[in-house]
Amino acid sequence: MNFRTLKDADVASKRVLVRVDLNVPMQDGKVSDTTRIDRIIPTINKLRERGAKVILLAHFGRPKGEIQAEFSLEQIVPALAHAVKHHVAFAKDCIGDAAAAAVNAMNDGDVLLLENTRFHKGEEKNDADFVKALAANGDIYVNDAFSAAHRAHASTEGLAHILPAYAGLTMEAELTALEKGLGQPVRPVIAIVGGAKVSTKIDLLSNLVEKVDALVIGGGMANTFLAAQGHDVGKSLCEHDLADTARAIMAKAESANCAIILPVDAVVAWHFAADAPHQTYGVDAIPHDGMMLDVGPLSVDRINAAISDASTLVWNGPLGAFELHPFDAATVSAAKHAAERTKQGKLVSVAGGGDTVAALNHAKVSDDFSYISTAGGAFLEWMEGKPLPGVDVLKNH
Ligand code: 3PG
Repeated sequence: MNFRTLKDADVASKRVLVRVDLNVPMQDGKVSDTTRIDRIIPTINKLRERGAKVILLAHFGRPKGEIQAEFSLEQIVPALAHAVKHHVAFAKDCIGDAAAAAVNAMNDGDVLLLENTRFHKGEEKNDADFVKALAANGDIYVNDAFSAAHRAHASTEGLAHILPAYAGLTMEAELTALEKGLGQPVRPVIAIVGGAKVSTKIDLLSNLVEKVDALVIGGGMANTFLAAQGHDVGKSLCEHDLADTARAIMAKAESANCAIILPVDAVVAWHFAADAPHQTYGVDAIPHDGMMLDVGPLSVDRINAAISDASTLVWNGPLGAFELHPFDAATVSAAKHAAERTKQGKLVSVAGGGDTVAALNHAKVSDDFSYISTAGGAFLEWMEGKPLPGVDVLKNH
């Protein structure tokens, strides 16, 4: 992929507007997971080292164009300053006099965070006047927010049309990893898709069957496929109305030569709780009153064998109810196996999406995958083969 990166940019003494993703989880007024903050530090440090004035632009939550104290980015400043190991100034607006005054007070190497871009309606509308008002405080634009790149907003897309625009280091790493995952992967490629519902992942499954050699379907969504094949899934989570959709995806996979790997056995419980009494059944013998909460050990063997056959893995969604012990077993086993193959240099493994990151952290393999994306919606849209406006605008034409 051909896009402009920081090494192409002359940033010394320049006002650099850096779009970052500070949409971080909070608990009791404090950032509870700093992963997204940690990921933007290399870009901030690189720009500071090279004498830029680093002006951070970000959204937080969905305040829909209204100023709402609970969505102020001011509360992120302590965690950000801690990670940058430098004072971070804050401006109470991202445009206008407050922003201009704060930018004018900066020295080379300083860091300034501007207030939530979504406090203005022009942000989500990608309004031309709002884009100009943002651009008034910058000479150069850097986008380091892959996880917001599926939004064609003023700060994620509009600015790149009117300022010299570059991908930040995290964006660059993300795009390079994703290219290895589905862009130009080493074959065979296997995808694991799990999670609760087929309805949220129809586009994803339809796209993947044309791109990958094998597709593992796990989690609650596997039940919909099993039911569509005529299995009785008992009281398991199942979207019976999507049986035709599931059959169409399986037919598409067959004509594209993509092997669909569905569970052959499942761990069944009678209520949804950690340590609930449970038993393993073949998918032909699921009790009427039981719920499948994880794929079973025979299925895990098949999944792990398929991972061993693959050179590239892309993963979105857990295989079972991983947040409840012992229904995390399949996800943990497949995650550990993929991590092991990756460490041996036999597999390129790329994973993403909120639940997936939590599941891989739970399996303690996050450091062993080739790349784990912090993006939720953007990772899904990338896997669905949809254009990402914030990325496309950075490409060399
Ligand atoms: C995310 O948290 O996935 C991104 O920051 C995008 O947020 P949004 O879905 O509110 O646009």
